[in-house]
Amino acid sequence: MNKLLSLTLLTATSALTHDKSPLQEPLLKDASDLPWTYWPECYSNENTTEPICVFSQQDFASGRGIFIVTSTSNAYKILSKPAFTNPSVLSRVNNHANPPFEQHEFPNGKGRGLIANKTLHRGDQIFASTPLLISHPDAYLLSEKERLALAHRGVATLPPASQSLFWGLLDHFKGDPVDDRINTNAFDISIADEQQHVVLPEIAMLNHDCRPNAAYFWDEATLSHYVHATQTIYPGQEITITYINNERARAARVDNLEYNWGFKCSCSSCSAHPALVAESDARIAQMGELAEALDDWSSESSATPEMAEALISLFEQERLFAGLGTPYKHAAEVYASFGDRWNAVRYARLSAEVNLLDKGFSDVDVLEMRRMARDPELSWSWKKRVGHERPAVGCGHGHGH
Ligand SMILES: *[C@@H]1O[C@H](CO)[C@@H](O)[C@H](O)[C@H]1NC(C)=O
Ligand SMILES: *[C@@H]1O[C@H](CO)[C@@H](O)[C@H](O)[C@H]1NC(C)=O
Repeated sequence: MNKLLSLTLLTATSALTHDKSPLQEPLLKDASDLPWTYWPECYSNENTTEPICVFSQQDFASGRGIFIVTSTSNAYKILSKPAFTNPSVLSRVNNHANPPFEQHEFPNGKGRGLIANKTLHRGDQIFASTPLLISHPDAYLLSEKERLALAHRGVATLPPASQSLFWGLLDHFKGDPVDDRINTNAFDISIADEQQHVVLPEIAMLNHDCRPNAAYFWDEATLSHYVHATQTIYPGQEITITYINNERARAARVDNLEYNWGFKCSCSSCSAHPALVAESDARIAQMGELAEALDDWSSESSATPEMAEALISLFEQERLFAGLGTPYKHAAEVYASFGDRWNAVRYARLSAEVNLLDKGFSDVDVLEMRRMARDPELSWSWKKRVGHERPAVGCGHGHGH
């Protein structure tokens, strides 16, 4: 039998019992040791190892508020993040006044989007936001009725402005109005090594493009999504991100968008003439082959710096600018592997810069490329392939002329 738990688990103040009214009064002073604005409402069943509850904090992020659907132990891990313990880390987050864009309603059913109203350069922050909700996939262990009860209660506990943002989200699946909005807008992120879903109303305003001009990442410390320009964006241009992995053939991208987001991909690289699509697909296939060759660190490796240069060129030809951090990293490593210090430094810097915008402040690749840029000689790849040079054809011992 599933049962509604009274969350005496959470606190020694066990005299307080659960009130089943849809929205309880905020906590009284004597419960001020509890870091949540309301008593968590919880459910458990034979499949849950811990009760799954909804935790709300209306003061979070200067009154934006948040609700979290997860186990108690997981909720307290989230609560230990700097976003909660040191709110000053949020000084660049949720500043939505005077943004560098305007909302725009596109004709022909494309819906709404954001148009730049000033020139944005690579690295300019477009916005950064904290989520309205964080939900752990374990909520799906509950019956649908209980899962929906937690989600509805969570929305009801958000501050009024954040409730309006939530109800302003689009829903595509036409079922329960809260569940639909969450499913349509959720992003998968990771907190304390747990996969979670988050909903951020601002990022939902950005349309998909297979060749986007902006990138986003989840920053675990600040529990925030950051969006930056990855190339120059001029006033009047739409700001776009990608919803999917774009380093795949057109057919795979179209299926992915239709399946997960319910729309037909209409960006320029999806709607091009079949001859141009074939060219693009061939470039993407070749990108995969080059990356694989460059990842070969065996003694049979045929990797050369020219391959990395070709890989970078293919990314540029495909206009996959936000993804350049990866081929730049390949280039830094392959130059380092032949002991070419300054080309390794050059590409390590480029890789760190682009990956900062696409993967985040504490991404492992960013940190590794920063170290490489300072001390290529200390990187694991340094001179790894010296002596692997293949003899140049017709030159006997490969010394050239
Ligand atoms: C627990 O999981 C099993 C297997 O997935 C499922 O058949 C059962 O209905 C679940 N129990 C509850 C209470 O949801
Ligand atoms: C751009 O539009 C926003 C409204 O979305 C406005 O607040 C901002 O002042 C505008 N900026 C410029 C430079 O016009």
